Amino acid sequence: MASSRFFLLFPLFVSFLLCIIFHPVLCDDEEDGLLRSINSYRTSLNRTVLTKNDNAECLAGEIADQFKNQPCTNSTGSNTVPGTETQFPNYPTLLANCHLNVSNTRDGAVLPACVPNLDPSLVLTNFTQTQYSVNLNDSKFTGAGIGSDGNWIVVVLTTNTPEGSFVTSEADNLGSNAAKLTGKNIGMIYLLFLLMGFLFML
Ligand SMILES: *[C@@H]1O[C@H](CO)[C@@H](O)[C@H](O)[C@H]1NC(C)=O
Ligand SMILES: *[C@@H]1O[C@H](CO)[C@@H](O)[C@H](O)[C@H]1NC(C)=O
Ligand SMILES: *[C@@H]1O[C@H](CO)[C@@H](O)[C@H](O)[C@H]1NC(C)=O
Ligand SMILES: *[C@@H]1O[C@H](CO)[C@@H](O)[C@H](O)[C@H]1NC(C)=O
Ligand SMILES: *[C@@H]1O[C@H](CO)[C@@H](O)[C@H](O)[C@H]1NC(C)=O
Repeated sequence: MASSRFFLLFPLFVSFLLCIIFHPVLCDDEEDGLLRSINSYRTSLNRTVLTKNDNAECLAGEIADQFKNQPCTNSTGSNTVPGTETQFPNYPTLLANCHLNVSNTRDGAVLPACVPNLDPSLVLTNFTQTQYSVNLNDSKFTGAGIGSDGNWIVVVLTTNTPEGSFVTSEADNLGSNAAKLTGKNIGMIYLLFLLMGFLFML
């Protein structure tokens, strides 16, 4: 009895845990779906596909977090009149949180969109059928990171030049790799403990 219950529940349990621990990596369906759709759009325009850039994704998440309490209006997100884009006074901090600085991000593009409940088809057309389509059709962009919070979803485009590479700042490099490893280790240890607890419960 115990073993059949075990085999039934075990895979569910593990995927549930992995999903919690590696949340941004495994459970970002909305973001991954948008990147896939944007890449189909790029292919239809004879442009290279955008590769996922983790630092740009981090910044996109930080910016979505700044926007999250703003309502969707006809002058926000993809409706923003060029030249009136929201400027965040704490932008340098947002960059620093992602181990970035302005010298390797200035050629990138930040495209925020506001769509109630992030309805996937409206999200896509907010990028492909608005002023943002010009950016998506630009061959200088080679990578992208996507983050969302509330009704806001942000696409950050990167280039393969030093000014838009979004590579981790040299000075931060060691620190951030160490932090990432530690975070992962803690996650794995936590997972092992939970698994052991689960086995004992049977
Ligand atoms: C597609 O893009 C490549 C490189 O950007 C270019 O050489 C080629 O002519 C393009 N093809 C079409 C059909 O536009
Ligand atoms: C935006 O909405 C406001 C008020 O809801 C309205 O007065 C304005 O005409 C709208 N602008 C556009 C471009 O639709
Ligand atoms: C963008 O999203 C808004 C919802 O905030 C929607 O009303 C609008 O139709 C969308 N625009 C396009 C071009 O899809
Ligand atoms: C994309 O850009 C090319 C020129 O670089 C232009 O010919 C084409 O019309 C653009 N397509 C769209 C959908 O904007
Ligand atoms: C920004 O990052 C670049 C690339 O890693 C680095 O060369 C530069 O010194 C950094 N600038 C500042 C002000 O931190």
